[in-house]
Amino acid sequence: MNKIELHLHLEGAAPPAFIRGLAQEKGMRLDGVFDENGHYAHTDFAHFLEVYEAATAALKTPEDYHRLTLAVLEESAKHGVIYSETFLSPDFCGGGDVAAWREYLQAIQEAADQAERTHGIVLRGIVTCIRHFGPDQAKRAALCAAETASDWLVGFGIAGAETVGEPIDFAYSFDMAREADLHLTAHAGEWRGPKGIRDTIRDLRVERIGHGVRAIEDPALVDELAESEIVLEVCPGSNVALGVYPDWASHPIGKLYSAGVKVTVSTDDPPFFHTTMTHEYDRLAETFGWDDGVFLELNKTALQAAFCRDDLKTDLMKRLEPPDV
Ligand code: ADE
Ligand code: ZN
Repeated sequence: MNKIELHLHLEGAAPPAFIRGLAQEKGMRLDGVFDENGHYAHTDFAHFLEVYEAATAALKTPEDYHRLTLAVLEESAKHGVIYSETFLSPDFCGGGDVAAWREYLQAIQEAADQAERTHGIVLRGIVTCIRHFGPDQAKRAALCAAETASDWLVGFGIAGAETVGEPIDFAYSFDMAREADLHLTAHAGEWRGPKGIRDTIRDLRVERIGHGVRAIEDPALVDELAESEIVLEVCPGSNVALGVYPDWASHPIGKLYSAGVKVTVSTDDPPFFHTTMTHEYDRLAETFGWDDGVFLELNKTALQAAFCRDDLKTDLMKRLEPPDV
């Protein structure tokens, strides 16, 4: 089944073997990044962020990001993804400097063009600031986004430790991105409950929410989300792996869907959470009895909520529909 993925962190999608190889080439030691089986080692969310940043230290040049993008898109295409939106962080790509960021962006875009020719997968980028790096660094990321906004660089968002600071602290950055005609999304409702989601919608005026699953704790908010058609980028495997929910059966995506909230399915940081889009769909089918009809509906929701141009959506919609027999 062809799939649309809206929530994927580029560094978080790096296969561990790719990062190990890169570190070896550079003679770098990455202490504490891998477990004895060669997988990413992490215990809880704070540790996950530490390991994520430690692994990302191996990605030093635009050429490294070119290679990373090719590796990630090859893997996504294997799982039927035909359109992907990926989070890119100027903090990691040039330290927030606009000129350096342009070079990274160009390298990533070139790799995306190459992958589109080879695998038929289309990529678009969303600049994301990192919440625990603070509002000043976020402004630099927003400036990078605003300066490079295009049909390819289509959005702005925020990731990182949701428990640090308040959404309003980042309103200036989101305003700058909005004025540059970028679409907006924000991680919320992963580590904070309904209030964090409400504050994010009010102060950052986003069209989509990354995760948003803890809205389930407030029935009125669930109704408001359904009513306002704000789309949730739900990553169930990530939530279970990081302990937001103890298991798939406890995950609220089924209830949110039944309540009419626009939910979509993504992997977040697939190798960190031992997941793929195929794995997510298989587990959702198993847990909630979802069939191809439901998955087609979710993919259409995702494509409608994608930040790319409408003419591209029209082309991709044809690839979602099963062929008439
Ligand atoms: N960065 C990468 N994955 C993330 C997640 N699940 N939550 C917040 N920030 C992230
Ligand atoms: Zn995420």
